[in-house]
Amino acid sequence: MPAKWLKDAVFYEIYPQSFKDTNKDGIGDFQGIIEKLDYIKALGCNALWINPCFDSPFHDAGYDVRDYKKAAGRYGTNEDLYRLFDEAHKKGIRVLLDLVPGHTSEEHPWFRQSQSADQPNEFSNRYIWTDNWFCGSNLNYIAGEAERPNAYIVNFFKCQPALNFGFLKPQEPWQLPMDHPDCVATREAMKDVMRFWLSHGCDGFRVDMAASLVKYDDEVKSGTCAIWREVRGMLDSEFPEAAIVAEWARPDLSLPAGFDMDFILNDPHTHYASLLRDYNAPVDNTYFKKDAPARDINRFMDVYRRWYEQTKGVGYICLPTCNHDTPRPRFGLDETELKLAYAFIFTMPGVPFLYYGDEIGMRYQDGLPTKEGGYQRTGTRTPMQWDGGKNLGFSEAEAEALYLPVDPAADAPTVAAQEADPASLLNTVKALLKLRHENADLQADGPFEALCSEPEKPFVYRRGGLVLAVNPAGEAATVRLPAQGMKPIFTLGNASVDGGTLTLGAQSFVVLK
Ligand code: NOJ
Repeated sequence: MPAKWLKDAVFYEIYPQSFKDTNKDGIGDFQGIIEKLDYIKALGCNALWINPCFDSPFHDAGYDVRDYKKAAGRYGTNEDLYRLFDEAHKKGIRVLLDLVPGHTSEEHPWFRQSQSADQPNEFSNRYIWTDNWFCGSNLNYIAGEAERPNAYIVNFFKCQPALNFGFLKPQEPWQLPMDHPDCVATREAMKDVMRFWLSHGCDGFRVDMAASLVKYDDEVKSGTCAIWREVRGMLDSEFPEAAIVAEWARPDLSLPAGFDMDFILNDPHTHYASLLRDYNAPVDNTYFKKDAPARDINRFMDVYRRWYEQTKGVGYICLPTCNHDTPRPRFGLDETELKLAYAFIFTMPGVPFLYYGDEIGMRYQDGLPTKEGGYQRTGTRTPMQWDGGKNLGFSEAEAEALYLPVDPAADAPTVAAQEADPASLLNTVKALLKLRHENADLQADGPFEALCSEPEKPFVYRRGGLVLAVNPAGEAATVRLPAQGMKPIFTLGNASVDGGTLTLGAQSFVVLK
């Protein structure tokens, strides 16, 4: 059973580097987040996911953790972070931190000892070392870096050695079984990190690469799932309100393993990209694009509906507007198209995640030089655009000192400008989230049924006593409703009902009761 408070949760993802700088060093900080809690609350979000904010050399924006229990000095102290938990809670906002269980930084003291010439030691098996020092052809192994005569396995970049959770079916002498005391110690170390932050007031974790713990596993990930079930057991007995969301995109595996939520990511198997960001396709057929030549929501819905049926009552599927790894939805969609895309995301079951700045349609900044291992992701990580002031209100530092440059466009969207415009994207997001909070049927566990998903036609779906329809096309369409006499309670664009027939205008969305 997912944590009860998730039923009406709407998350706001904060990339702390780029949210709000209060000490004029050009990098966002905890105090900046605290100062913007009222903004987040007014938006309609009641939960945060903060990207890794722990001590790190920042070769992967903080996903290379050097000390799991210490806040990164550039954001503030541990005490500042505890204060952030407190201030958020006072406003009814929950806070998830980012747990990176699959790997550490190569600068983590565990790895420094693990790789040393002084073997064996307490941390010799904390990482996965082969019994060979030369593994030339396989890129998952790094040779020639350690003092000890072995190569280690990485989880992502070279600077992120994989922690050793053991192997389900060890096939080589260097592959330890999952119940080896040193692999058990890795699991316990990760639980210890979770206990540390939960006992200081955080409400749970977004879990990085949650599928990555046990290597070379079988399709069903039984080894990795067993570890998460054990973690769930610890949470249930010690922190029953804590919530965990998996970066996995396999809710059929992660939710039964004990996660409360799982993200639908842009991986090819989810077809989520076909809704918001079809940037790799030769023609942009993104479902919400007005002029898409072959609009199709079915590729996505086929996968979604199967997972939804399999996991109903077990946990929630999360639809994010974007995250720090993906081009922003504004990359391919204009403001009207974004309104319709968000109307869909915020009225679907499960728990929605809004990436900072997507509420004002911040642009993907193509072509920026890579920052902290961001590469193409860097363009999605630029500073939040608050107002028309210095650095668009992000920081009082000189422009050269900023973590990343702010959007240089003369018409860069800002919160201040959009707050003043009743028809803005920001005010539309607020109205949609208000609608969601006011209607239990639209929340995480409200019922869901797709009524019509023919290509080129509006997508029509039922949430309990409500029928919703979205028409991204440039022409009006008619839809036969499942009941007579339904009335619009929320409209974007145009909609009218005559008996049992809905006429939905071009690029329009309606909720009927
Ligand atoms: C997924 C994170 O979202 C991404 O930003 C990071 O680079 C990798 N995991 C490695 O931790």
